[in-house]
Amino acid sequence: MSPDTSAPATQRILTGDTPTGQLHLGHYVGSVRRRVELQDRCECYFIIANMHAYTTRVDKPAEIRRDCLEIVRDHLAMGIDPERSAIFLQTEVPAISELTYLFAMLLPFNRVMRNPTLKDEMRVKGLGDSYSFGFPLYAVGQTADILAFRAHAVPVGEDQVPHIELTREVARRFNQMYCGISDQAPDQDHEKLGGVFPIPRADVGTIGRLVGTDGENKMSKSLNNAIFITDTPKQVKKKLGKLYTGRQSPTDPGDVENALFEYVRTFITDPERVRELERAYSTGDDIGDGHIKVEVAEAISTLLEPMQQRRAEYEGDDDRILEILRAGCEKANAIAEETLAMAKEVAGMGFFSREIRYR
Ligand code: TRP
Repeated sequence: MSPDTSAPATQRILTGDTPTGQLHLGHYVGSVRRRVELQDRCECYFIIANMHAYTTRVDKPAEIRRDCLEIVRDHLAMGIDPERSAIFLQTEVPAISELTYLFAMLLPFNRVMRNPTLKDEMRVKGLGDSYSFGFPLYAVGQTADILAFRAHAVPVGEDQVPHIELTREVARRFNQMYCGISDQAPDQDHEKLGGVFPIPRADVGTIGRLVGTDGENKMSKSLNNAIFITDTPKQVKKKLGKLYTGRQSPTDPGDVENALFEYVRTFITDPERVRELERAYSTGDDIGDGHIKVEVAEAISTLLEPMQQRRAEYEGDDDRILEILRAGCEKANAIAEETLAMAKEVAGMGFFSREIRYR
């Protein structure tokens, strides 16, 4: 790949995941694939948002801890290179929690509660009105995850866009209140004009959201419609076989906007073959759903095979994973501490300096 000379050399990227178990294909196409590309030309930070996992699983510390290590394995399997990118734990970077508290003052409570992603989660997870105080607070925390790194871009799936919007509001308000930046200043000028925070943009991939094998909902472990990166070719085939299109016969003209064709376009790498399948399907040129499913399943397994090989290298070796995390946390703290000091200085909290060191 040729280097992108239009982007400044110091473009910083921050993104990450709440550790909820194994990553699946939806994570890969929605986000991780893009991260793998970005690590060639940007300074990348990947957060394991383990504190966020406690918003709904506060009683499951051992599970959450295990999920943290597993998510690192999945990242390495998918091609994240720990030599170039920092993979780190949210709870080992104290500046994030400190910024969360300060940022919470910059946001009206009702503004936080209007966040559509929060509302969706409350509904989907059936939280009713018994959610903890910490649950909506995570949205404020996420603004701190991003701003602690003074990130310029946040590659995410489209469900995360409301969180990035909130982050942009916090950054603008902070820069306006404490750095004298005009509320009319264009986003890209905030740092130049002396604002502590760049106004980060959401970098939503072309496929922000991969439909699950139920053909309806977003792919998600909890909806039981996910293809995991550890799935064998047999498992992949079986899961795809269940994808319902409603089409009756190979000579029925099919709808190439259906879930099956979303998979075709996402996983079949030869564009000519994709066009040929679209033509045959839409005209009902004697092509059965079952055939296409097998072809897609094979394409997926071809994609997964090298990931599974890489993942096998790290299986069972927790010490190696912890060492990667520790190096990532050190890198992350270097910049987050710098940001925190800058923010505290302008916000009237710049009293003493300090250093984070692990033993
Ligand atoms: N909320 C994100 C998710 O559930 C995870 C996350 C936490 C995140 N902090 C972040 C994503 C900062 C991007 C940037 O997927």
